[in-house]
Amino acid sequence: MREATPKTVYLKDYTPPEYLIDEIELTFELDAERTLVRSHLSLRRNPQCHSECVTLELQGEELELLSVAVNGEKLADTDFVITPEAMIIRRVPQDKAFVVSIENRINPAANTALEGLYLSSSMLCTQCEAQGFRKITWFLDRPDVMTRFKTTLIADKNRYPVLLSNGNRTGQGDLADGRHWVGWQDPFAKPCYLFALVAGQLECVADEFITMSGRRIELEIFVEQHNVDKCAHAMQSLKNAMRWDEETYGLEYDLDLYMIVAVDHFNMGAMENKGLNIFNTKFVLARPDTATDSDYEHIEGVIGHEYFHNWSGNRVTCRDWFQLSLKEGFTVFRDQQFSGDRTSPAVKRIEDVNALRTRQFAEDAGPLAHPVRPEAYIEINNFYTLTVYEKGAEVVRMLHTLLGSEGFRKGCDLYFKRHDGQAVTCEDFIKALEDANGVEFGQFRRWYAQAGTPLLTVTQHYAADAKQLHLTIQQSCPPTPNQPVKQALHIPVKLGLLNQDGSTATVRMRDNSATEVTLNLTETEQTFVFEDLPTQPVVSLLRGFSAPVNLNMERSLEELAFLLRHDSDTFNRWEAGQQLACQIIFGLMTDLQNGRALQLDEVMIDAYRSVLSGSFDDLSYQALLLALPEESYLAGQMAVIDVDAIHQAREFVKTTLATRLRTEFQALYAQHHRDESGCFDAGAVGRRRMKNTCLSYLSKLEIEDSYRLATQQFQTARNMTDQMAALAAIVNSYHPNKADSLESFYRQWEQEALVIDKWFALQASSSLPNTFATVQALMRHPAFDMKTPNRVRALIGAFSQANPVHFHAKNGEGYQFLADQVLVLNELNPQIASRMVTGLAQWRRYDPERQALMKQQLQRIVASEHLSKDVYEIASKSLA
Ligand code: PHE
Ligand code: ZN
Repeated sequence: MREATPKTVYLKDYTPPEYLIDEIELTFELDAERTLVRSHLSLRRNPQCHSECVTLELQGEELELLSVAVNGEKLADTDFVITPEAMIIRRVPQDKAFVVSIENRINPAANTALEGLYLSSSMLCTQCEAQGFRKITWFLDRPDVMTRFKTTLIADKNRYPVLLSNGNRTGQGDLADGRHWVGWQDPFAKPCYLFALVAGQLECVADEFITMSGRRIELEIFVEQHNVDKCAHAMQSLKNAMRWDEETYGLEYDLDLYMIVAVDHFNMGAMENKGLNIFNTKFVLARPDTATDSDYEHIEGVIGHEYFHNWSGNRVTCRDWFQLSLKEGFTVFRDQQFSGDRTSPAVKRIEDVNALRTRQFAEDAGPLAHPVRPEAYIEINNFYTLTVYEKGAEVVRMLHTLLGSEGFRKGCDLYFKRHDGQAVTCEDFIKALEDANGVEFGQFRRWYAQAGTPLLTVTQHYAADAKQLHLTIQQSCPPTPNQPVKQALHIPVKLGLLNQDGSTATVRMRDNSATEVTLNLTETEQTFVFEDLPTQPVVSLLRGFSAPVNLNMERSLEELAFLLRHDSDTFNRWEAGQQLACQIIFGLMTDLQNGRALQLDEVMIDAYRSVLSGSFDDLSYQALLLALPEESYLAGQMAVIDVDAIHQAREFVKTTLATRLRTEFQALYAQHHRDESGCFDAGAVGRRRMKNTCLSYLSKLEIEDSYRLATQQFQTARNMTDQMAALAAIVNSYHPNKADSLESFYRQWEQEALVIDKWFALQASSSLPNTFATVQALMRHPAFDMKTPNRVRALIGAFSQANPVHFHAKNGEGYQFLADQVLVLNELNPQIASRMVTGLAQWRRYDPERQALMKQQLQRIVASEHLSKDVYEIASKSLA
């Protein structure tokens, strides 16, 4: 917990470590309440660092010291100092290597922050990124200190039959007292944030993978007994990821064993510890009846993500935590490519962009905006953000676009070869891409340093007599905290042209002609001229969302409907539909605000009718074309967010479409409805997605027919996708069986924590009346638990982040509720507490009354005692 003023760490203050630790021998005598840690650190001065100091400072927090020795000689109390954050040994040998030996004790059961060594259900596990290792023992806890780990685990054999750590098993045996031991050795030097251990009663699901060079890798997934039947998809995903990385990046796995452990209590999604990934159960466990199609996709994505880190993160790691996006942005890009290749690239891209625009753009436009490579932090855990991850991935994607896939691959090859075994920077990554391709990305580097979402304003002029189209693009970027003035960025803008009949027009610029070009926008304003155009073409701009920017381009509803029908770029085709819907919804909001009766433009109905009657190979894509922009995306477009108007206008559109296109929705529902147990193949996933989209529209009609459809589907569903979609239709309408359905669902799935999370989240995000009372009642439900992050996210997170209408209730009850919970969580788990505060961060975007109420709660949080650094940083920066 925090002292007076938490200190800020700056990138500009980086200095190399004064000492290096080549090797560590770690021994754990594991016990839930009293774990003994013994470590021998082989240290030496860093030859690259020439400071005069003879002291050694090791980081350590919440540790009970038993003894410390240098080269075998126990230190006297006067030889060292212990502070809340460090051990400072006054004098260590300078001219030769030396060994520091430490014995200390920790209490995993008391560790509710889930950082360091902690207890999850009955198993012991670790989480060390970013700075959790210092809660295990004193160490140089920074990623540029890379060490070879030898670990011995000792524990009661009955309670902890399985003992795991990084690398290869080197030995094991029984002790006389009912305990046993297992030895582990990791041949690869690594930063301590990649250390892991697990101890528990776990079952192992095993398989193998033969690498491209013919090596046999053992694959092991460890779960509690009752989850053994939910590991098949994770295992298949792992094998797919391993093959994909060989085929796409030429990267092969390097140890003989790859282990994954699933735990119930986890602050994030998963962790790429060397050879021993630790996962939130949410991203491992799946059975058709317990997991939805989207769960299956996320599992494959996260398994891939952690696997890809073995190269982008572990073999080549980060010099310091400001470089976090070096591994995260790159690895997200890699997992996006992987998932796209595995499922549908078009659908994957749309989903990623949708998430980026609704969530990361909001972060980038608010008080917590920061560059992809931040310059300062109080608590590094607060910087595992959408900006570092998702915008970071977009930056890598732009480099990929600029180099083409072959050039990008050449650059990556050089990066991995040049920096294998090193801790490096984002600069090193760009440099490798440049050197391998003989190009220069000078201006492009600004993407790493400059926060905020750029805005492109586009105007066009068609000169009929010259048969030319002049396209002028201006770029600007709004100020962000500490960055009042922005510089022009290098923005790749993909463009295509369409003829009036919908066919592709040739894009001719000076001597080049193609069906599609990537324009290099580098100036504040630039005009591009396209030749040889006998009639005025329709411009399809920013294809594939080639840069993370906002686009301002005047378009008529008709032009958007035209693009929705004809654009050959799958992303822009979808985007045209989104922009069409946005324009219409904003028009309706104006009508609402002026007390006019609402009427839906026929253009919208026609456009949707033609999507409904179109023929699509990819039904998931068709379903996406029918999905209205989310309320949070619409909110992001408004100067002052009016949650009620957004909700009303959007609901009106949805209900009207359902009314007018009822026959079409019903027919498509019937066409794609199957009674299937839910295998995860593209055809079945698409059918379910399409069918459930129809169901969601039809449920807006609030008629007997739709109620019956929902009930039928709910009762007969043999897979979670269909069951959950039906329950959602029931819960989000005035369905007469709502209470019964919720009750029977609960009873059916009581034993499945991940399904019960869905049950909480669904109720917490309902926009119907009385939701707040429901949320309060659910807080007292026996299955609710403040110490389980998944549960907290399912209830408090869903209410505050996915229920704008009720969270922003005018009387401020939602805000007060959230602040109450944040203060409780602050004592238990600062990381989760600070994640929850972000629900209040956007306070300046609302009307004055709401602003005042939100601000009041933020002030209350900042003023409270025992505030963690995590919560303090987010709350205080939100107010700044
Ligand atoms: N490094 C993990 C990932 O992105 C995320 C993580 C960060 C997990 C911090 C736990 C703690 O794959
Ligand atoms: Zn990651």
